[in-house]
Amino acid sequence: MLKLPKIIGHRGACGYAPENTLESIRTAADMGVEWVELDVKLTKDSIPIIFHDDDLDRTTNGSGPVREATWEDIQQLEAGSWFADSFSGIKIPSLEETVELLIDLDMGLNLEIKPCAGREIETAEIALDMLSRYWDAHDRLLISSFSHVSLESARDLAPDWRRSLLLWHEDMPADWVELADYLDAATINISDQLATRDFIRQIAEMEKPALVYTINDPHRARILQSWGVASMFTDVPDVILEGMLQVH
Ligand code: G3P
Ligand code: MG
Repeated sequence: MLKLPKIIGHRGACGYAPENTLESIRTAADMGVEWVELDVKLTKDSIPIIFHDDDLDRTTNGSGPVREATWEDIQQLEAGSWFADSFSGIKIPSLEETVELLIDLDMGLNLEIKPCAGREIETAEIALDMLSRYWDAHDRLLISSFSHVSLESARDLAPDWRRSLLLWHEDMPADWVELADYLDAATINISDQLATRDFIRQIAEMEKPALVYTINDPHRARILQSWGVASMFTDVPDVILEGMLQVH
């Protein structure tokens, strides 16, 4: 049985610390967050790293495509001061060191496979291979992706690890129900813009949990909770946890 928490820290707790860093994960843990969502992609030399964008520019002092940067290049970069001076000096973490920290902190993980274009299969293969060396808690792991090719690889490589089909309102596959079935998705993870009562009901009829990203407004969180949403991704876990407590 999957032990889904009510909230999942988005890219750690990226409202309070630089996204997808060990510091962001620690910040989430300090807030009592049980699971975090993190994005994984490959360096040029195929090291899996925790990073969101295709380019280095927004969240580091580097520039250009991640796919052109080696692990050695990545280690030279600084990934904290764009967020706040107090985080200056923070590094982009490898998947390996990230997983070690999550195990130390006893946290669950939604690993989003976020491949650079053309690397959909190998990103899934390499990330899952790395994860398989460390991760035992099947009930506290979700592998998600917008890439159907990556999810197909994940299904074939690690059929026992639960997968989530990610859906985004601006690029909805018309055949998403069939896709979810084909990929044997355990959950359907949708953008807030897709999260109408009817859509959530439709997911419930498939007997799958609906997860919604990214919810930073406690009022909206309470509405989604009342519609039966299983879990929400948030940048501000403390705000949403407190907002939800008011329901009970
Ligand atoms: O997995 C939910 C969410 O992380 C998907 O969008 O762009 O934040 O990775 P993005
Ligand atoms: Mg993500």
